[in-house]
Amino acid sequence: MTAFTRDGHSGTGPGAITRDGCSVEMYSRLPTHGEPDVVLSAVPPGASLLELGAGAGRVTRPLVAGGLAVTAVDESAEMLAQIGETAPTVLSAIEDLDLGRQFDAVMLASFLVNTADDAQRGRLLRACRRHTAPGGCVLLQRERDGLHEALNAGDTWDRGPMKISVVSIEPLGGGVSRTCIGYAFEDARWTQTFFSQNLSEPRFEAALADAGLAVDAYLTDDRTWVRAHVVRAQPGS
Ligand SMILES: C[S@@+](CC[C@H](N)C(=O)[O-])C[C@H]1O[C@@H](n2cnc3c(N)ncnc32)[C@H](O)[C@@H]1O
Repeated sequence: MTAFTRDGHSGTGPGAITRDGCSVEMYSRLPTHGEPDVVLSAVPPGASLLELGAGAGRVTRPLVAGGLAVTAVDESAEMLAQIGETAPTVLSAIEDLDLGRQFDAVMLASFLVNTADDAQRGRLLRACRRHTAPGGCVLLQRERDGLHEALNAGDTWDRGPMKISVVSIEPLGGGVSRTCIGYAFEDARWTQTFFSQNLSEPRFEAALADAGLAVDAYLTDDRTWVRAHVVRAQPGS
């Protein structure tokens, strides 16, 4: 069986590009798109929150401004450098993270759960579970069902000052696609090419269950934002 790992991810454009193909400068320029409000309404005021894959702090900043005590994790030093003094940062792969402390909320956004590497998905979700305090929650952002079928090469949409386009989307079987997205500002253009796995709700919930997590609630009408809780301790994870 083919493993669609992040080794197949890439990016083009000016400046530093992360291992998974993201441009540091593009994420530094990108406005938020409702994410902070979803998170702030899903956790108690003043909660401690571990943000996994925080990038350039696009969402970190409004969460800190909203009163959360955020710790930002990313494997890209260039990304974390953009966060500056806004929040404590940890340079680490999410899979390997073991901070020895737990948080009121752990956030795994940006569709990282849709990795096309099943083993990696398990490791990401177990990292969420082991950093969640008793009574705490995990906040996840997943691709909406049917997204791959809905996207076509040439589709474009605006996000603030940026135009996003689907450069190509290639179904690879088993619900995995390789997608190339273009991000264009007036003065600069980037692309990111990545694999992603469509996860139906049953499959998504089964992946959570394997990691000792269960859905509390789908938080948005499109069911992309999810709050989960820990259902059992897992030895050795
Ligand atoms: C698509 S960007 C999104 C950044 C941020 N969440 C946002 O919404 O602006 C994904 C970020 O996650 C980081 N990342 C992806 N996989 C990771 C992993 N396994 N461990 C640590 N960081 C990871 C990348 O370096 C990148 O900064």
